[in-house]
Amino acid sequence: ALIERGEYDHFMLKEIHEQPESLARSILPYIDQATQTIQAGDTASDIFAGADRAVAIACGTAYYAAHTAKYWFEQIAKLAVETDIASEFRYRKPVLPVTGPALFVSQSGETADTLAALRYCRENKSPAIAVVNVPESSIAREAKAIVPTHAGPEIGVASTKAFTAQLAVLAVLALSAAKARGHLKAGDEAKYVKSLLSLPRKVSEALEVQPEIKAIAQTLTKAKDVLFLGRGRYFPLALEGALKLKEVSYIHAEGYAAGELKHGPIALIEQDLPIVVVAPYDDLFEKTLSNVEEVRARGGRIILISDDKGIKLAGNRADHVIRLPDADEIAMPILTAIPLQLLAYFVAVAKGTDVDQPRNLAKSVTVE
Ligand code: G6P
Repeated sequence: ALIERGEYDHFMLKEIHEQPESLARSILPYIDQATQTIQAGDTASDIFAGADRAVAIACGTAYYAAHTAKYWFEQIAKLAVETDIASEFRYRKPVLPVTGPALFVSQSGETADTLAALRYCRENKSPAIAVVNVPESSIAREAKAIVPTHAGPEIGVASTKAFTAQLAVLAVLALSAAKARGHLKAGDEAKYVKSLLSLPRKVSEALEVQPEIKAIAQTLTKAKDVLFLGRGRYFPLALEGALKLKEVSYIHAEGYAAGELKHGPIALIEQDLPIVVVAPYDDLFEKTLSNVEEVRARGGRIILISDDKGIKLAGNRADHVIRLPDADEIAMPILTAIPLQLLAYFVAVAKGTDVDQPRNLAKSVTVE
């Protein structure tokens, strides 16, 4: 079927706005609403139950989804997850978990390096679990278990709705792993089910900040560099925010772990350097806030993405704030993707780049 942009100027904006639906489609198959339980499928659950550790492999945006999931797997399922980009993993002769799975994340299911990494794991008898958006793809066919995302076809080269669908399905997997490993109490499972089910509504709320983001984007069009900072589960989101901006606006952007700032990137900070801080309130918030102070003292201009509590605590340290609805440690990283996507999009539009087909990029990299 022909996919059209409809009322939207670009597929990227259309796909950003589709996320309440693409998330609902991706989450609902894994939830039993009657019993308030999560089920990712027996094969995946059995593999996780006895796993000593896991590896998670992907490229590009899908890699950042895997990187975010590492925090959920470790903190909720008590499972060590080593993440790597496929092009490194496939050639370094990695030592695989003895009993654990190799997790592959891919929108297209055809990325050459990711597929080669999967074949390496198969040859070495590590069960492959694939989170893919295209169920007929090579990666889907060759994996032992597939846990599909249902984002629908993604046309914009820079991934948006596929990314949040990957995060949601990886959250489901982490929670199923937690359950299979005996680390999820019944009350907690119901609480996470509620959180997952509330995501589409919260994403709609997050999309309402579009006018503010559009205004902030106008202030970034002349920037030569933009720094993105985050800690803990928001560190991979900072990396993804920087990637998104690079891909569509061609502005150099760098994502960094906030705590690593003083080991290098702080040297870049000069008057008016824009710094996007991804920091909803959590137990690391105060630490990130002290990093914000360090960059502010050197003239950096702070764009803070946070929730009510974080924004209050930050007070006048932020030059611009982007407010998200309250959410837990599963839903919040997914919500932070929304303003990051919108920011990249509106900077790109203001600069007049080819948003849906940025120069030099391909939707699916099927050759090395
Ligand atoms: C390309 C695309 C990215 C994507 C990456 C991985 O670089 O431009 O948007 O994240 O490939 O693709 P996959 O289909 O494996 O998720």
